[in-house]
Amino acid sequence: MTEFAHDTIVPFEDSALSKKDQVAGMFNQIAGKYDFLNRLLSVGIDVYWRKKGLQQLSSIFPDNLLDVATGTADVAIMAAKMLRPTSIVGMDISSGMLDIAQKKIQEKGLSHTIQLKLADSEAMPFDDNQFDAVTVAFGVRNFQDLRKGLSEIRRVLKPGGKLMVLEFSKPTFPLVKWIYTFYMKIVTPNLGKLFSKNKAAYTYLDKSIQQFPEGKNFIKILQEIGYQQTEHKPLSAGICSIYCGIK
Ligand SMILES: C[S@@+](CC[C@H](N)C(=O)[O-])C[C@H]1O[C@@H](n2cnc3c(N)ncnc32)[C@H](O)[C@@H]1O
Repeated sequence: MTEFAHDTIVPFEDSALSKKDQVAGMFNQIAGKYDFLNRLLSVGIDVYWRKKGLQQLSSIFPDNLLDVATGTADVAIMAAKMLRPTSIVGMDISSGMLDIAQKKIQEKGLSHTIQLKLADSEAMPFDDNQFDAVTVAFGVRNFQDLRKGLSEIRRVLKPGGKLMVLEFSKPTFPLVKWIYTFYMKIVTPNLGKLFSKNKAAYTYLDKSIQQFPEGKNFIKILQEIGYQQTEHKPLSAGICSIYCGIK
């Protein structure tokens, strides 16, 4: 089994809390500023990434979809419009993020399609073989136990169902790498501090990306768990990646 150190990367290094509790607490703290900072820090490209990710599911016409680590429900809302499934469940461990999600869903008149659930990806309150598709955007990096989360997702997918993961990755092209490093180590934590008053959250972003088993390493983990027809598609010079697998 392939081992990676990403589980040891936590938002607050001097905290005695588990990674899961720290992550939930951190997202509760920044929930109100999360969407604004996402758009600002990614200069809007995050919207394009989510769209590209969801396009991977358009050929299977999912009737019911689970969005794990839904946060403020950007993927769930976009999926409701793009894929038009009958039902979407958005699940997250941060009640603060789900509160914002709930307001957005109501404002957009999507309450009949999207239901939200406060629950943990590593112990999901769903039956086996329930969903046609599962999405996780910028969530797997935050899982306390990556394999457990990905195994749980596979359990709740129907046979033939599709997983789509969107996650940050590190660019390899030297000039992009240089600009990216400056941006992630200097610009992001300081803008994060200025607007969310939480520098640790945006320092954790870079640390967690650095340690995440990306590319072929992530594909290997998916395959070890039992996903088939796995695929990796880098986006925007490798700053972000789409991963897919079939149960
Ligand atoms: C960076 S946000 C991504 C939110 C959203 N998917 C998006 O595209 O903006 C990561 C989310 O993962 C959630 N999360 C982390 N660990 C989780 C777990 N074990 N189960 C469910 N949600 C989790 C956090 O609470 C947070 O809302």
